[in-house]
Amino acid sequence: MIEIKSISKTFHQKKQSFKALDKVSLTIDKGDIVGIIGFSGAGKSTLIRTVNLLERPDEGQIIINGKDFTRLSSKQLAEERKKIGMIFQHFNLLSSRTVFDNVALPLELDGTSKEEINRKVNELLKIVGLEDKANDYPKSLSGGQKQRVAIARALANDPHLLLCDEATSALDPATTQSILQLLRDINQRLGITILLITHEMEVIKAVCNHVAVIDKGKLVTKGTLSEIISDKENPIIRQFINSDIMTLPQELISRLQKEPKHGLFPLVEIELSENISVEQILSALYSQYKIPYKLLKADVEYFGNSNFGKILLQLHGEVEENQQVISYFNQNKIQNTVKGYA
Ligand SMILES: Nc1ncnc2c1ncn2[C@@H]1O[C@H](COP(=O)(O)OP(=O)(O)OP(=O)(O)O)[C@@H](O)[C@H]1O
Ligand SMILES: [Mg+2]
Repeated sequence: MIEIKSISKTFHQKKQSFKALDKVSLTIDKGDIVGIIGFSGAGKSTLIRTVNLLERPDEGQIIINGKDFTRLSSKQLAEERKKIGMIFQHFNLLSSRTVFDNVALPLELDGTSKEEINRKVNELLKIVGLEDKANDYPKSLSGGQKQRVAIARALANDPHLLLCDEATSALDPATTQSILQLLRDINQRLGITILLITHEMEVIKAVCNHVAVIDKGKLVTKGTLSEIISDKENPIIRQFINSDIMTLPQELISRLQKEPKHGLFPLVEIELSENISVEQILSALYSQYKIPYKLLKADVEYFGNSNFGKILLQLHGEVEENQQVISYFNQNKIQNTVKGYA
């Protein structure tokens, strides 16, 4: 178990000082995958770096498996750090070393025998799916492959904790998903606790069980993934959820008009929530108002019995009928936005 207890950190530069962390507390259970989300400059990297004391907090404690890291000697700390792996946005591989030798590095530094290094590195390359790249150099690898090497290297000393600082921010969406899948596998197969920071809600949704939101150095809220996602009242969470903008089909954008006009139909984006289901919306249109419609896009996620996300509809009724439906949404507190007419 990891306890981050009332950590504060102020940076001093020339005559200015800046409080990057302000009494942040968070408990992480063994085997959990916890995400910390926040905007740029919120203090995420500073926080994750205090966990293994790469950044020493001004006050507060970091207690990992009962040991207070802020009170360890540098020798003890070095020992404990070996059991904490870390991966970064820009991979930090050594370009002069092969994939095998990059992964072997922490073991060499630890004085591990050649045979053991051979055995261990091959096993790690298998876990990350890079057995056939052992003798390649980082420059010949894709971004996703580089991050796999970095993950294998981070696992070399059999860590109990993996810290990930924006580990997928430099990757395209498909590669991001494959790396997140790998992290999930590692968590499940090896039982490693994962703490990851990100500014993307998608990353949190894909892997985390628990989430903490940090803003301007303060911990704003924490909870399970579904608690956080359904907390629509929280202005910071709202911004993250709304930043998942539902893009319109290109063909529609080109003919979208701002004002209603005869022969054009409204495009309505609807925000789903715990109490507003896709089924409820569609059955109102179909059974109650009996108007034709097109479901253009849906981004729906289910947590237990609740759904979240957005749908984009085009109402194809007469002008008045469409207006009645929009009034129905408003009366029933169904959050809707008319994106335009097409
Ligand atoms: N070594 C440092 N010296 C001075 N200021 C620093 C230092 N490290 C971080 N800061 C400041 O602390 C604040 C938090 O930085 P941090 O890197 O933790 O943010 P972040 O949430 O990781 O942002 P990003 O998403 O952009 O990586 C920023 O305003 C940053 O300028
Ligand atoms: Mg950062």
